[in-house]
Amino acid sequence: MPLNAPGPASPRDLLGLWRSNAAPWVDAVRGRRIESRRVATDAAVVQAVLAAAPRRVLDVGCGEGWLSRCLAAQGVAVLGVDAIPALVESARAASGADGARFATARFDQLDDAAYAGFDLWVCNFSLFHPDDALHLLRAAAARLAPRGRLVIQTLHANAAQADADGWQPGSWGPCGGDFAEPIPWYFRSLASWRALLAAAGFGAPQLREPAHPGTGAALSYLLVAACLRVDP
Ligand SMILES: C[S@@+](CC[C@H](N)C(=O)[O-])C[C@H]1O[C@@H](n2cnc3c(N)ncnc32)[C@H](O)[C@@H]1O
Repeated sequence: MPLNAPGPASPRDLLGLWRSNAAPWVDAVRGRRIESRRVATDAAVVQAVLAAAPRRVLDVGCGEGWLSRCLAAQGVAVLGVDAIPALVESARAASGADGARFATARFDQLDDAAYAGFDLWVCNFSLFHPDDALHLLRAAAARLAPRGRLVIQTLHANAAQADADGWQPGSWGPCGGDFAEPIPWYFRSLASWRALLAAAGFGAPQLREPAHPGTGAALSYLLVAACLRVDP
């Protein structure tokens, strides 16, 4: 597709696409087949979370649960949530003595007292629908502990075919494996992320751009924002 050509339409059933791709996704993550994760982005998100020294973390869109398990193994109390029951079951099955817990929930169900009081919410490559992002940021602003942190790692402009906000075609290319239909994703520019965070009640985010150690190319945006809500 040429630069700045219109991207694919908004997918009607993003979660249906995740449901049909759940099994190969588990294999790709656990088989360490995604190079960008191996060389930079996994370590970057773990470091960003641990740097905030949280006691309780909500892993939002946890998938098969690798990040929850990794943080729990470092002594953090973690709850991973995801909309896809097969992924949540797979996360539970892989969790052992680390103590990570998992639950099935959609992003638009997280503005609930059950999710209140976490010190940090982390969204690792899970916010790819504009409606989800809005729901999620509002819920986080309402339910995080005072001075809590929101960590978002997401795809970089380098992965998009246009530099303006909009839907991008998905590809399972870097993952290998026997995937069904690709999942479109919504690219959001840094200016747009900053505006969304401010509108939801977060301070100006710190930005990191984890890069490929060989080529130097930035692989992701990693945003860390503080919740400005002050409870009476
Ligand atoms: C690219 S995967 C990332 C999974 C995990 N965070 C990781 O780092 O491997 C995106 C995840 O977000 C979940 N997800 C997408 N939209 C969601 C929604 N509206 N509610 C809950 N989970 C959602 C998907 O089911 C999928 O597991």
